[in-house]
Amino acid sequence: MSRVERIFPHAATLKSGVAASLPHDSAGRHVTGEAVYIDDMPEPEGMVHVYVGLSQRAHARLVDVDLSRVRSAPGVLAVFTAADIPGDNDVSPQHLHDEPLLATDRVEFAGQPVFIVAAGTRLEARAAVRLAAITYDDLPSVLDIDAAKATGKLVTTPMTLARGDAAAALAAAPRRISARLQIGGQEHFYLESQIAYAVPGEEDDVTVYSSTQNPTEVQHMVSVTLGVPAHAVTIEVRRMGGGFGGKETQCSAFACYAALVAKRLKRAAKIRPDRDDDMVMTGKRHDFTMDYDLGFDDDGRIRGVDMTFAAKCGWSADLSGPVTDRALFHADNCYFYPAVRAVSEPLKTNTVSNTAFRGFGGPQGIVGAERLIEEIAYATGLDALDVRKRNFYGKAGRDVTPYHQTVRDNIALELVEQLERDCDYRARRAAIRAANAGSPIIKRGIALTPVKFGISFTLTSSNQAGALLLVYTDGSVQINHGGTEMGQGLYVKVAQVVAEVLQIDISRIKITATTTGKVPNTSPTAASSGADLNGKAAEAAALTIKERLTTFVAEKWNVREDEVIFLPNRIRIGQQEVPFADVVKQAYLARVQLSATGFYKTPKIHWDRKAGRGRPFYYFAYGAACTEVAVDTLTGEYRIERVDILHDCGRSLNPILDIGQIEGAYVQGAGWLTTEELWWDGKGRLRTHAPSTYKIPAFSDRPRIFNVALYDGQNREESIFRSKAVGEPPLPLGVSALHAISDAVASVADYRHCPRLDAPATPERVLDTVDRMRAAAAKA
Ligand code: MTE
Ligand code: MOS
Repeated sequence: MSRVERIFPHAATLKSGVAASLPHDSAGRHVTGEAVYIDDMPEPEGMVHVYVGLSQRAHARLVDVDLSRVRSAPGVLAVFTAADIPGDNDVSPQHLHDEPLLATDRVEFAGQPVFIVAAGTRLEARAAVRLAAITYDDLPSVLDIDAAKATGKLVTTPMTLARGDAAAALAAAPRRISARLQIGGQEHFYLESQIAYAVPGEEDDVTVYSSTQNPTEVQHMVSVTLGVPAHAVTIEVRRMGGGFGGKETQCSAFACYAALVAKRLKRAAKIRPDRDDDMVMTGKRHDFTMDYDLGFDDDGRIRGVDMTFAAKCGWSADLSGPVTDRALFHADNCYFYPAVRAVSEPLKTNTVSNTAFRGFGGPQGIVGAERLIEEIAYATGLDALDVRKRNFYGKAGRDVTPYHQTVRDNIALELVEQLERDCDYRARRAAIRAANAGSPIIKRGIALTPVKFGISFTLTSSNQAGALLLVYTDGSVQINHGGTEMGQGLYVKVAQVVAEVLQIDISRIKITATTTGKVPNTSPTAASSGADLNGKAAEAAALTIKERLTTFVAEKWNVREDEVIFLPNRIRIGQQEVPFADVVKQAYLARVQLSATGFYKTPKIHWDRKAGRGRPFYYFAYGAACTEVAVDTLTGEYRIERVDILHDCGRSLNPILDIGQIEGAYVQGAGWLTTEELWWDGKGRLRTHAPSTYKIPAFSDRPRIFNVALYDGQNREESIFRSKAVGEPPLPLGVSALHAISDAVASVADYRHCPRLDAPATPERVLDTVDRMRAAAAKA
């Protein structure tokens, strides 16, 4: 029994407590434009605008950096290079010293920051940076995975997961296939670009408003680059206009630039790159290749598998270590591999440093696992869904992952079978195949793919959180925690937790902007753990207040503690009922402390990376999606006709917000695997750096029918009110769109060959694959 269940077994349910479908706390303000983002904050007198000058070369020595014309440009107040950084010229998240804030003697990708300019207006700063005269001495550049494999250069230590003897299992398998899968990267395309606004204080002090998922890390980076103690630096963020992982580390440099200028000029300073520069400068989802060697039998059961996941990491490590680790952790998806070896290759390239992106490598691992299933389905002629089911984790002996964690909460089969019935998968599949036979040009396809997603940071120390709860004498409450709001609805969920514990209406609770000055040493809001960690920390703080009030009331009214019952907005004390606010007022007068901190750390987890063993995940979140598409085989264009999703949020804290997360994640995942293509030219310059050339899903691309339901269950582990994390797990549901397109393409060769459709499946690639399939059919 949890602490909350133990102490307050009679907690009455409140309309605004947990499990209520409350709207996002800022929904109205988002729509009216009244929600304040950093660029909406009032600008103080004398504020300066900062802009960054970028390298035009992918890999070069800096022979001469002549900034004289920049300095004399209209409106320019100051120009800063690496020599002007008072502290350490380093913003590498893991302190590998592989990521200078400003380049010194060489540049390692086209778009690397070389200098910054402060000017009176943003336009002046932006115009001035173009006047730099930089002389480069070009060095050989490595731009893609194959070139990087040839150099063998890695940005961080690779990982190997192994269980059983994969080589022996492959040698003995009745059937064997080896091939390669390619998976493209993805631009975050948050609506609000990176931005930071710094206000200097006295002595060393500086406050930075940063669009960040990771205020503590930004605080740390500002303190390191300025050479001042962390206590001098305060980072605040009320909300981001989207982060999606792109503001877990990539936000730091911007905050450092603003802080550097603000301290040097003793004026407020703001930096907001335009969309093109943001896309060129900041890291993205990692591109991967997976080379696989797969052994299986005639019944479609996997015997053994060997996989190498090579990732294009870019010029520095950033988060590539944990991202490539997470790819391996998800290379099994829902499937038991009797013998397995999986290896990561975090490759160094002269491109932007790739970073966190919703799913953090996990989706790439899942795409890999699903390719294996597809290979088996075409080789055996079985329905891919049957191959999936035959390979699901199961009873003892078939329940251990490649990282030696036992899967105890497996609901994949029940969940998939429920979706299969609900969306009428079998009948529709048969109808689609029949219809395709009579439709030479438009081919339809369908696929039902599952997801199992591991919840917890694999870096054990990150699985902690703090909260600060303040109760005022009018009975209103402020809650502050380490989590950040990026649109996902974390603030309202945490407020619901406090409302539930204290049994007060959510209108009495204000969640204040996240600031390093209230809750210190916080983890990034990432790994989908925001509500799990901060919800628990807030619950702990609220329980402390509740216990104090209970003790106080029992004494003052002379009743037993179990006669004190928190009812909605009032407290039953023996035979009478007293409004919550009145009890609070009395408690204040009696000198009861009305503020409390809360702390939480995830239990049960441990991970030994070297040995490749442990329990990195507290639990798994599950889901499944069925996508139906129509493909025009003359042009390669396609349309998503229908999507059905059943997803597991445990006992949802807020069903309507969770459904929103699932819808958004599906669309983002489908966009990644279909139309979103990053393209660098032969000189390493990103050519898809605006919405004109980089195609994210638009309203017109939405599934024509879009059914999302929550699986009825609860977390087996004692998570916050038995809910499950929802931020990232539904993203790989988009894999069903890729497989549905693949199914449609396979029809042109009578479903006899695996299309091996790589991602992104742009219309161009779909058309190529159609041609390849037709050629294969003609040859056969
Ligand atoms: N939803 C919105 N609207 N905007 C975002 O930026 N980021 C995603 C996901 N959902 C994101 C989002 C990512 S990458 C993560 S890790 C989680 O939200 C983080 O929030 P949580 O831990 O509170 O779920
Ligand atoms: Mo999410 S990629 O963990 O910020």
